[in-house]
Amino acid sequence: MAIIAPSLLSSNFLKLEEECRMLNESEADWYHLDVMDGRFVPNISFGLPVIEQMRKASTKTFDVHLMILEPGKYAEAFKAAGADILSVHIEACTHLHRNIQQIKSLGMQAGVAINPHTPVTALEDILGDIDLVCMMSVNPGFGGQKFIPHTLKKIERLRRMIDDNKLSVKIEIDGGVTVENAKSIIAAGADVLVAGNTVFRSKDPKATIAELKRV
Ligand code: DX5
Ligand code: ZN
Repeated sequence: MAIIAPSLLSSNFLKLEEECRMLNESEADWYHLDVMDGRFVPNISFGLPVIEQMRKASTKTFDVHLMILEPGKYAEAFKAAGADILSVHIEACTHLHRNIQQIKSLGMQAGVAINPHTPVTALEDILGDIDLVCMMSVNPGFGGQKFIPHTLKKIERLRRMIDDNKLSVKIEIDGGVTVENAKSIIAAGADVLVAGNTVFRSKDPKATIAELKRV
């Protein structure tokens, strides 16, 4: 059964407490929190104070996806705000190994996010140090985009790399996940499904989460 991580980017920001309550009662496993700086990606979302408030209303794991430059400057603050898992983009980190060590030394699980054009082989020498790969299946910056089909091949390749090295790194797929394509994503080897629009634009988000959980 996959881990389901609804992306709050598509939630109703005017009713965040209600959205948290809904997720707490649902079969969702993690909260996926997308932080954008308007520099690494062409959009700005929410940041530390919002996450800090949501932490008070949530009972689940906080999976924070940093789409920001110089993430090392903020790792400590995200830990303090309530992050359990912190992912940084490989494309934004000159000293990725240092960033990963910092995240782990702060007591968080460490993730590396990769853009659609970044080959999974770029992860070869960091895979043994991390807990999660956040594989983007859209270009980061916006919710509600279409899943890039080529991602399925990347998932298969990364699954092989992880299994061949007997690692327990989780593969998280982020962007354009739907009830329809979830099955093929899991079959390719994914462990975690992020879903923004699919969950929050659905008539019955809890039922949709349950459906994703069961594909
Ligand atoms: C995109 C974000 C995603 C996004 C997913 O930059 O990283 O987490 O919110 O949204 P959907 O599921 O709507 O594609
Ligand atoms: Zn994300």
